[in-house]
Amino acid sequence: MEIFLDSANRKEVTRLKNFPFVVGITTNPSLISQEKVKIEELINLTRKNNLKIFIQTLGKDREDIYKEGLKYFSLYPEGVVLKIPFSSEGLKVIPVLKKENIPIAITSIFSLSQIIVSLPLQPEYVIPYIDRIGRSGGDGIRIVREAKEIITREKLATKILSASFRSVKQVEEAVLAGSDAITIPMKVLKDIMLNPLSEKAIKDFKTDWLSMNEKEHI
Ligand code: E4P
Repeated sequence: MEIFLDSANRKEVTRLKNFPFVVGITTNPSLISQEKVKIEELINLTRKNNLKIFIQTLGKDREDIYKEGLKYFSLYPEGVVLKIPFSSEGLKVIPVLKKENIPIAITSIFSLSQIIVSLPLQPEYVIPYIDRIGRSGGDGIRIVREAKEIITREKLATKILSASFRSVKQVEEAVLAGSDAITIPMKVLKDIMLNPLSEKAIKDFKTDWLSMNEKEHI
């Protein structure tokens, strides 16, 4: 299981040491423009902290996607995974990028059939968008479960990296359905980490322990 943070926020990336189970970040053009950060800066930050970084290409045709891919990968070959949005131009360029040993994630996945046609290209990851699929009337969890069945039956190495989460429940269901990796925004990560019931239990244990020690001193 790999866990990523879905973020292009400098502070969040720097603070990832507080979450030692997170192995990198996934970005997309919207997240990067919201944060007004340069891709090069994010690459430097992730390199410094020994994290992986997923970077999405924007090019419309395969020549542009290829150039972008080579550029990003050359900046941090140990850590960059190239996110290519599902499209016919995007799929065409994947064999060429794979020849350069660039790890590929096919992103913006909204259906099982998109995963089915992506698999023969042997991407390292396919990225179904769980919440967005739900919002458009589909069932992202079912897509993960069925994609996992196909990948297991065909003995393929492609990992399912589930994305677009809005709740802890979606994360749990996506992992149970067979996701090999997940990427979650900071809000959902905080909801997992800051469980008031765990905090209360820890506080109660401390109170009980201290009261016993006080009694022993009497
Ligand atoms: C995945 O890598 C994307 O960055 C992300 O999860 C997209 O989904 P959202 O914009 O619905 O959160």
